Amino acid sequence: MRLVARCPAKVNLSLRVLGKRPDGYHELETVFQAVDLWDRLDVELADDFEMSCDHPGIPLDDSNLVLRAARRFRETTGVDRGASFRLRKGIPVGGGMGGGSSDAAGTLVLLDRLWGTGAPREQIHAIAAGLGSDVAFFLTGGTALGRGRGERIEPLEGIEETPLLLGFPPFGIPTAEVYRRVRVPGAPGGDSVRLTPSGIDVSVARFSTLKLPGGKDFGFVTNDLERAVFEGWPELQAFRDSLMKAGARKALVSGSGSTVFGIFPESDLVDRAVSILGSVFATWELRPCRTIGEGIRVRSEAG
Ligand code: C5P
Repeated sequence: MRLVARCPAKVNLSLRVLGKRPDGYHELETVFQAVDLWDRLDVELADDFEMSCDHPGIPLDDSNLVLRAARRFRETTGVDRGASFRLRKGIPVGGGMGGGSSDAAGTLVLLDRLWGTGAPREQIHAIAAGLGSDVAFFLTGGTALGRGRGERIEPLEGIEETPLLLGFPPFGIPTAEVYRRVRVPGAPGGDSVRLTPSGIDVSVARFSTLKLPGGKDFGFVTNDLERAVFEGWPELQAFRDSLMKAGARKALVSGSGSTVFGIFPESDLVDRAVSILGSVFATWELRPCRTIGEGIRVRSEAG
């Protein structure tokens, strides 16, 4: 038997940096949104762990997130089995769309099914949180609030299916580099990030009524990492501005970049924006997509 997972990408509809923590990470409050752009991860039983991937940019050594997730799952559950993975990338690599994190979450869900582990939800969630800040979100998918490093997830009422246009420049941006450049409130010389004065509980109440009907209320769509990204990579700001001119209701860097996305009221306008932006940003990849209300999907196939 072979199991197949569809692992979606995400954008951050909102990302607030609340402060820097003693462990070096930043305390966040972020709204994750899954989108219909997918990696496909197949798994079959094997004696040990094996892995292949159709994308040359993915290392197949110990740093590979699928293999790291698999080893962590095996150590934590104590199951002495192996698995053979085949990854087909549909999500751009290094673009801040969470592809590697989604694959890691998919690995945990797949192994639990393949080995019949029946691991408690909390255990799978704890392994996910230990693998990276975005991994836990993909166990939930849809629209969700992330707190802490981003790993404490609270599902939100889904937003209406909304057309987006994603823009991928021909380079990635290292997440750690962006966080290094962020000026945290209270730090010398910095006022670029705002504390949420009323605290997290109030904002949960605000976000839990989150809706984008017809795309009218985009007040919450903001990214505190954006200034640091634009200072280092000004081309992203030019692209953001062009998305707005081309009819986006709101345009934003996703997470720490390098993806920039626009929220559009209807898909006809997305098509128009593709033709306007395509000639100016010829080296960028433009990808229309939509928000989705789900996360990882697993199905079985006869081997
Ligand atoms: O957890 P993850 O591997 O996704 O994070 C990559 C890097 O981004 C971290 O090493 C850290 O420098 C930075 N980061 C941060 N605060 C967060 C998430 C990530 O400073 N909440």
